[in-house]
Amino acid sequence: MRAGMARCFVTRRLPGSALDRLSAVHEVEIWPSNVPPTTEQLRAGVADAQGLLSMLTDRIDDDLLDHASRLRAIANYAVGYDNIDLAAAAKRGIAVGNTPDVLTETTADLAFALLLAAARRLPQAIESVRRGEWGTWEPDRFLGFEVHGSTLGIIGMGRIGAAVARRARSFEMNVIHASARERDTIAPLLQQSDFVSLHCPLTPDTRHLIDAAALAQMRQTAILVNTARGPIVDQAALRQALIDGAIAGAALDVTDPEPLPAEDPLLTAPNLIVVPHIGSATHRTRERMADLAVENLLAALDGRPMPHQVTVSN
Ligand code: DGY
Repeated sequence: MRAGMARCFVTRRLPGSALDRLSAVHEVEIWPSNVPPTTEQLRAGVADAQGLLSMLTDRIDDDLLDHASRLRAIANYAVGYDNIDLAAAAKRGIAVGNTPDVLTETTADLAFALLLAAARRLPQAIESVRRGEWGTWEPDRFLGFEVHGSTLGIIGMGRIGAAVARRARSFEMNVIHASARERDTIAPLLQQSDFVSLHCPLTPDTRHLIDAAALAQMRQTAILVNTARGPIVDQAALRQALIDGAIAGAALDVTDPEPLPAEDPLLTAPNLIVVPHIGSATHRTRERMADLAVENLLAALDGRPMPHQVTVSN
């Protein structure tokens, strides 16, 4: 290895040319498979690495970092970083970076697409045509819920929540919001909203924020949208609420666990849309996320602050 070169482990091939820029200056090993590395494989990958470019599917905890004595920088290919134990990284002096902003509008687009699809029952309607069940036009087929004029409750008015709010206002929705940090703001939002969209990070405090009690506060005609993190919702409680008709529907981009097995009981619930964590999945956004992750890694390995560095407190 040339002087100044670091060894980097990248846990997945990435779209675009960002990894070429990393390989131009450092020695880079890219995990070759589409199946994420196991804990053992991750340990082997970081064993002598100074830089790690990780996916949200890689669990980076105290134990893994014990096997990464040379590691100086972790660039997570996501805005969320709940897969990383920040305190464990901090105590070893390892910088951690994420990829904010570039995926804000793209993720908001998907949240709004899920809201519209659930409100207007698009999956059921599409499926009926494929099955040859169109028949004649009927006054009461696939009746859904109006989006315009309805109330959208946003939990977590950060970058993505605000971008969803902008879309909602142009659909003439009334937007209200609450913060997971101020628990007393949640119940009124759940009671008043026709749609509830989750945009808070997953933390020990927000795990199962939407539990049976929260779902019971929602309107029977309300729809829950989650593009944040799966464990924010208690999935067993959600399944029961959908079966009981306690809420009208749910549309999820994120689940607990991921991937959600095809035989997971949740998938037997009615009026449920599940897509496989594709909030940021456009060509351009995934390339821009790769650019940011590589910029973070290059900076830290060069002894500079990462452009998008996260700390224990944020
Ligand atoms: C993130 O970045 O945290 C999303 O969940 C995936 O893009």
